[in-house]
Amino acid sequence: MSGHGSPIPMVSHPVRGLSGVAEVPGDKSISHRSLILGALAVGETRITGLLEGEDVLDTAGAMRAFGAEVVDHGGGAWSVHGVGVGGFAEPEAVIDCGNSGTGVRLIMGAMATSPITVTFTGDASLNSRPMARVTDPLALFGARSVGRRGGRLPMTIVGAADPVPVRYEVPVPSAQVKSAVLLAGLNAPGRTVVIEREATRDHTERMLAGFGAEISVEETAEGRVITLTGRPELRPQAIVVPRDPSSAAFPVCAALIVPGSDVLVPGIGLNPTRAGLFDTLCDMGADLSFENRRDEGGEPVADLRARYSPDMRGIEVPPERAASMIDEYPVLSVVAANARGVTMMRGVGELRVKESDRIDAMATGLRANGVTVDAGEDWWSVEGLGAGGVPGGATCASHLDHRIAMSFMVMGLGAQAPVAIDDGAPIATSFPVFEPLMAGLGARIERRGA
Ligand code: S3P
Repeated sequence: MSGHGSPIPMVSHPVRGLSGVAEVPGDKSISHRSLILGALAVGETRITGLLEGEDVLDTAGAMRAFGAEVVDHGGGAWSVHGVGVGGFAEPEAVIDCGNSGTGVRLIMGAMATSPITVTFTGDASLNSRPMARVTDPLALFGARSVGRRGGRLPMTIVGAADPVPVRYEVPVPSAQVKSAVLLAGLNAPGRTVVIEREATRDHTERMLAGFGAEISVEETAEGRVITLTGRPELRPQAIVVPRDPSSAAFPVCAALIVPGSDVLVPGIGLNPTRAGLFDTLCDMGADLSFENRRDEGGEPVADLRARYSPDMRGIEVPPERAASMIDEYPVLSVVAANARGVTMMRGVGELRVKESDRIDAMATGLRANGVTVDAGEDWWSVEGLGAGGVPGGATCASHLDHRIAMSFMVMGLGAQAPVAIDDGAPIATSFPVFEPLMAGLGARIERRGA
């Protein structure tokens, strides 16, 4: 639910020699989709390795409100008894998606072609994020939205009673928008077509196929053309959620900048639409290896090993890689500060509309800790100070953004003086075991006043 309690100030101290095995939690994107598609299937979907972070728990609560039976069996094992495509009941209360843009946007899509009326809200971060990018295409199906000016939550969606299928070219590189349109297309008769110029994470397409929907993806001159036939009967699935590469990024990047480190992060999902950070780190000269590559539940997976890498260099990150590492730029900027030379990141305007304005949040905190950063509307650059060169010593604002909070905690581990954040509470949205996991590797990340 939104308003995740009181702020938790935290501080991260310089350490040496992170080592051990970091078992990061399940993938956030796949966890949301498992619950939503499970709720739209007929029968019982079983899920293991579900991320039990606040964002995903809010989606589980929402699926219950729409009539699905969602059961937590303990230890990451969950089941969802779905109501079938078109079977959502009208929730009795407002749906609170907390901090989660993925949760609210995908759920809006999933309900928009059913004759129900639903009001959505979230925390202060989510309520400031743009929703027109989703409500505009949903209007083409016949859904109406009523809400605050500027397309922000709280907002009510009146689902279409007689939906029509749509053909929609996604104007921004966003898997959330693409997925909202596809989920809406499930309950529209005929074929819904979504075109994306830049490939974004493709979990929705893969999982829809797994659940038995008729879906095809064609690479054309205009981009990826995804065609979905509406009104399928989705078959329940047994889903094994791979570990989240976006969460793995934190212990991996910490190992690269902390002297003497050697960390193994097993079972990480390496879907090519998600793995751009690891390519970028290798381009910078990071000592990363991928062991035991395999396929699990339709997703490529490997064990990642990261060792201290004092000789990393700044690079120009290829802009065409942005979508495959969009959530990883904050922690990449911390690695860049520990590399030699400038790291230039272009084509990343989407970072300004995440849980926070991530360019602004990172630039401000990096500068306060002695790092030179330059930024424009859709680019930013970090002047590397070399291994161990970040002075540190300052407190950064996390702006209700889990990835900003964790990035600065990683920075403190490899800096010359401790780095603090005003609020680490948002970390629980995606990585509830961040503190014990990092402590197990030898990190010193403490709650202030605890
Ligand atoms: C996500 C898509 C991305 C990403 C988010 C998860 C998803 O957002 O930043 O953390 O699961 O579809 P956008 O679609 O806004 O790029």
